[in-house]
Amino acid sequence: MTPLELVNLAIEAREHAYVPYSGFAVGAALLTKEGKVYQGCNIENSAYGPTNCAERTAFFTAVYQGERDFEAIAIVGGKAGKPISELCAPCGVCRQVMREFCKNDFKIYLSRGDGTVKETTLEDMLPLSFSKDDLER
Ligand code: THU
Repeated sequence: MTPLELVNLAIEAREHAYVPYSGFAVGAALLTKEGKVYQGCNIENSAYGPTNCAERTAFFTAVYQGERDFEAIAIVGGKAGKPISELCAPCGVCRQVMREFCKNDFKIYLSRGDGTVKETTLEDMLPLSFSKDDLER
């Protein structure tokens, strides 16, 4: 699975977004170390707070299925009904959820949907992170 293939699965997942309030549709595709992919989209709520981001939809679906070892996630987002044109970085809550299940070298792929991929890591996105390792010290 190449980074671009994972991005394309995130673009497909974005089609499932439920975004009546923000009109901002996000898709994610989460790759396990064994090569399985779990897709997710953002799912909004009229009370706003219960909204679930695409990344967390993908993570929680995978964790429910018993997955614990993750290699990479691709994330794309932009105005619903329009092609993606800008990078969509994960929100702070999603970065912390990633840190629960992933080490600092977990790969994060972002794309403008133009065939290019910006490759980064969880450590870049969440430096000096707090995790369960801190609780065990
Ligand atoms: N959103 C995501 O799905 N992932 C992110 O990391 C950034 C924000 C969603 C939440 C909300 O439905 C919409 O984008 C606008 O914030």
